[in-house]
Amino acid sequence: MRTQVGIIGGGPAGLLLSRLLHVQGIDSVVLENRSRAYVENRIRAGILEQHSVDTLIAAGAGDRLRREGIEHHGIYLQYPGTRHKIDFVDLCGRTVWVYGQTEVVKDLIETQLDGGPPLLFEVSDVTPEDVDGDAPRIRFTDADGTPQVLECDVIAGTDGFHGVCRPVVAAGPEEHQLWERTYPYAWLGILADAAPATDELIYSWHPEGFALYSMRSPSVSRLYLQVDPSERIENWSDERIWDALDRRFALEGWSVNRGPVKDKSILPMRSFVSAPMRRGRLFLAGDAAHIVPPTGAKGLNLAIADVTRLATALVRLLQDKQADLVDAYSDAALARVWRCTHFSWFMTSMLHRSGDDFDAQLQLSQLKRVCSSEAAARELAENYTGLPIA
Ligand code: PHB
Repeated sequence: MRTQVGIIGGGPAGLLLSRLLHVQGIDSVVLENRSRAYVENRIRAGILEQHSVDTLIAAGAGDRLRREGIEHHGIYLQYPGTRHKIDFVDLCGRTVWVYGQTEVVKDLIETQLDGGPPLLFEVSDVTPEDVDGDAPRIRFTDADGTPQVLECDVIAGTDGFHGVCRPVVAAGPEEHQLWERTYPYAWLGILADAAPATDELIYSWHPEGFALYSMRSPSVSRLYLQVDPSERIENWSDERIWDALDRRFALEGWSVNRGPVKDKSILPMRSFVSAPMRRGRLFLAGDAAHIVPPTGAKGLNLAIADVTRLATALVRLLQDKQADLVDAYSDAALARVWRCTHFSWFMTSMLHRSGDDFDAQLQLSQLKRVCSSEAAARELAENYTGLPIA
């Protein structure tokens, strides 16, 4: 087997990269170790920046997103007694879209299987080889158990935090660096068949801990509670979760809408950056190179920004035989990664309870500043809706 770009990992980053290359005449093969059902059912983030929406539409995978995506003009920031709207349109003229990552993946898979480049599920033993030369290859075992070799011009590592590609980059001849932060809290997330009681997302600071009111559709709510990372989901009955949500979102004359809980899980919060995002002919994108905590919904958008940049650079390399953009890829991508890492850290630190009462007063002071100063609110709005891809 031979292709121009061998893509390891069939999540949103790998699938979108394959589409972006396809529409520009570059062929690829996507290898995914999970099943189609598994990747189409894992629940992930739900907010798309405008550039992410534009990119999905340009890639030919935006029809359902255009029909079912819900445009949001801002968010609410809340602390006891106050719920304040941060209006993105007024502040920076941009909006975001509510549309689940799970739906993005389903749309990309459907487009891919409808005459797009090959997408192989349930492969195993995936190993990138000879990435320092001009003719790398990927060895793997296909779903039938047959060993295969995929010869490539370039390999893209979009296989996430636990993937095989980052260790290959880290073992390369260039100096490699890692930065990491583990936050002392986790999110308990639920998906509920309940109409959202709010028109926009609510980010709520509360003495008991942070809570986030999000949604997936006019009839499905997605809600999160800050919990201790050692908490066990078995200890959280639906009743206990709804009661905590009621307290943390409490506002005169308003209440959370309850409904059947369809999914519940505890998610760790960590931040992680690995550099460079390249070794020879192997390029990392998305969670394979960086993780941000979810406050601010940057993870998926950052992955989309990476592959948008990488697709342009690979087209230039493979069609025009020019290496300037692939050579600039890692540094340029990392500049955005650090901006998003900072913004995610800022939102996380401002909204989650930890530390002592002194810290709580600092957080409240910061929240009040963002809710009263147009300059402070605009800084949040510009970052939340997504900075331009330079
Ligand atoms: C979500 O809907 O899953 C979501 C929304 C906003 C965030 C994080 C997660 O900041």
